[in-house]
Amino acid sequence: MRNGEKGIIGAMVLSVVLLAAYKVSKQSADVGPDPGIPYYSTADSALTTRAAKIMHANNCKSCHRLWGTKDMMQSVPSPPLDGMGALRTEAWLYEYFSAANPQEILPSRLKAQYRMPSFASLPIEERKDLAAYMASLQVKDWYLAETKKAEQEALSGKPASP
Ligand code: HEC
Repeated sequence: MRNGEKGIIGAMVLSVVLLAAYKVSKQSADVGPDPGIPYYSTADSALTTRAAKIMHANNCKSCHRLWGTKDMMQSVPSPPLDGMGALRTEAWLYEYFSAANPQEILPSRLKAQYRMPSFASLPIEERKDLAAYMASLQVKDWYLAETKKAEQEALSGKPASP
């Protein structure tokens, strides 16, 4: 590799690192002294790897955001999957992924092509892995508290009492 090429690759790597650092700092900028990213998963690495493969094969991220990323070409108004385990149980998620018509469980106001597709045809093991992984997605307590407070303020129009 020539020196010029090395320089270009070096600059590209550096800009990716800087961009990632900027994103992380921006996410935590307005919530006090560096509380970090509010989302985490309790899944082990084997489950995480299996779930990532299933999600990739089924284009979940063409509609859903997870860990702050979503397919840039899509603008489907789907709920983010971050923290999903704080909202739904593993059993609920398994039922939902196994439903022939997910909208019977969770009604949709979206046009048909934007709705949650049925994943009933996936092998049972894959639906189980998806449900277990989604249930492992948690959100830190301080962020839930902040979110509730912000919601309360938005609804009442005045600062919430602590
Ligand atoms: C075509 C876009 C699309 C794709 C692809 C898609 N979803 Fe969805 N998903 C939605 C929409 C929209 C909703 C909200 C319910 C509705 O409108 O049908 C939803 C709902 C959900 C929910 C329930 C959210 C809640 O509030 O309880 C989960 C969990 C979920 N999706 C996970 C997944 C996973 C995992 C995959 C991939 C295997 C996936 N979705 C693929 C659009 C999509």
